[in-house]
Amino acid sequence: MDKIIVHGGAALNGSVRISGSKNSALPILAATLLTKEPCVISRVPDLSDIHYMLTILSELGCEVERASGIVTVKAEKVLTEAPYDIVRKMRASVCILGPLLGREKEATVSLPGGCVIGDRPIDLHLRGFEALGAAVRVQGGNVKVLAPELKGATINLRGKFGSTVLGTDNVMMAAVLAEGTTVIDGAAEEPEVEDLANFLIKMGARIEGAGTRRIIIEGVKELHGAEHEVIPDRIEAGTFLVAAAIAGKEVTLKRVDPAHLQAVIEPLAHAGYEISNGKDYVTLKANGSHKSLTLETLPYPGFPTDMQAQMCALLAMTNGVSAITENVFPQRFMHVAELKRMGANIELQGATAVITGVDRLSGAPVMASDLRASAALVLAGLKADGMTEINRVYHIDRGYESIDDKLNGLGAQIERVKI
Ligand code: EPZ
Repeated sequence: MDKIIVHGGAALNGSVRISGSKNSALPILAATLLTKEPCVISRVPDLSDIHYMLTILSELGCEVERASGIVTVKAEKVLTEAPYDIVRKMRASVCILGPLLGREKEATVSLPGGCVIGDRPIDLHLRGFEALGAAVRVQGGNVKVLAPELKGATINLRGKFGSTVLGTDNVMMAAVLAEGTTVIDGAAEEPEVEDLANFLIKMGARIEGAGTRRIIIEGVKELHGAEHEVIPDRIEAGTFLVAAAIAGKEVTLKRVDPAHLQAVIEPLAHAGYEISNGKDYVTLKANGSHKSLTLETLPYPGFPTDMQAQMCALLAMTNGVSAITENVFPQRFMHVAELKRMGANIELQGATAVITGVDRLSGAPVMASDLRASAALVLAGLKADGMTEINRVYHIDRGYESIDDKLNGLGAQIERVKI
């Protein structure tokens, strides 16, 4: 297990290339199960979550090749049960259910446990599969879905906390080979859902409305191989925008889609950071004083839950009283206790973090917990006095491609220590 040591106080300047999206690549790699023909996916980030997905595909019988950011998958013959010991490590593996159900009419996956950001149910996924005609059996910690045939249906995927991203992906991947028309109401509108739909359409699927809350799918008999480049990772980009706000002078993010970043750019601009963009870059200048903010996380196009922890780190060092309400994963505050160990003044009131800014945080040994909480601690360390030591760095490596190298390329002073 590595640890990361951040020496605070270095200013960030320059430009950084953003990687392909983890949360787009994962369902797209699962979607390659829908055809016997080879698929070529490019701009796949080098992350442990991606490695887990490729291992699952191999264990299911797929031929998998990876050459730097390009992954080729050929699912000529596939098993329909994913190995427990890998699935339990990554909730996103649940998104192999939809393509296996679509292609083989059955699939078995271990039920994703909870994790530090809260309960991770899949009731909406299963509701969608049942609507398409599948029987769902939960036994021994596994969920098995099977259907003699899949028929199109009208399905509402809106739950108590809004829609479901992977649930929308899963139902879409089962419906593309169902007989007839499927309408998904209350669909997740995230760009990653739209990116998956664009890949499925290249494979021969007939899908309209992806990226909106109503997706219409006309089932087809079979799908063929396709090539696809994954969209930029808007959460990695948002994380680097917040890093620039915390420790920057001037930082430019390259190979991004600014349209996917509006929910993060707007509050930062409102707080007084100078932000400009072109077709595929965004620049943030951290000059002058900045205002506190009141935010709430919402499904896309609202402020992303995956950026909540990073924003807490920024607001902990912003004058005034800020507040962030977490509507998607109300327990997603593992980072708060660690930020308080660094001197942050944060009070949790239910699902709202009330943050009173302090001038400086002080470096301390802190514990990484979930992917985004860990990134938030690295960001806090950029401007804290002294050294911040972040243990269990494997959490960060799940979702950020060489975050330490990228930040050091901007002028940060970060060491990775093998222990
Ligand atoms: C995706 O998870 C992302 N992961 C998460 O990013 C992200 O936080 C989340 O969407 C919300 O944007 C991937 O795309 C791999 P949901 P997902 O189903 O699809 C509830 C990261 O840091 N719900 O949209 O699993 C659920 O409990 C990760 O990169 C049900 O109630 O999330 C949550 O409160 C973390 N029943 C809300 O909906 C269900 O059947 C949104 O969950 C499914 C979800």
